[in-house]
Amino acid sequence: MIPATCDATADPVLCRCLQVSRSQVVDCIAVSGAETVRQIAVLTGAGSGCLACHCRIKELLATRTRSKSAVAVPA
Ligand code: FES
Repeated sequence: MIPATCDATADPVLCRCLQVSRSQVVDCIAVSGAETVRQIAVLTGAGSGCLACHCRIKELLATRTRSKSAVAVPA
């Protein structure tokens, strides 16, 4: 049996240049409240190389923005 940590699809690399995983960026957004690609780059390094991953980072940031706006505000 292969341990779950050997499953390459479990936590895919989001930024190949800096070897930053998707979960690292998701955690960074959740913990720091980062709202821009530049903030993610400063905090994780992701996106500070060839820039090819910027679209994936923006998708994660947009997902957070959508989920924040979907939260019901009590009257
Ligand atoms: S893949 Fe992220 S900077 Fe190159």
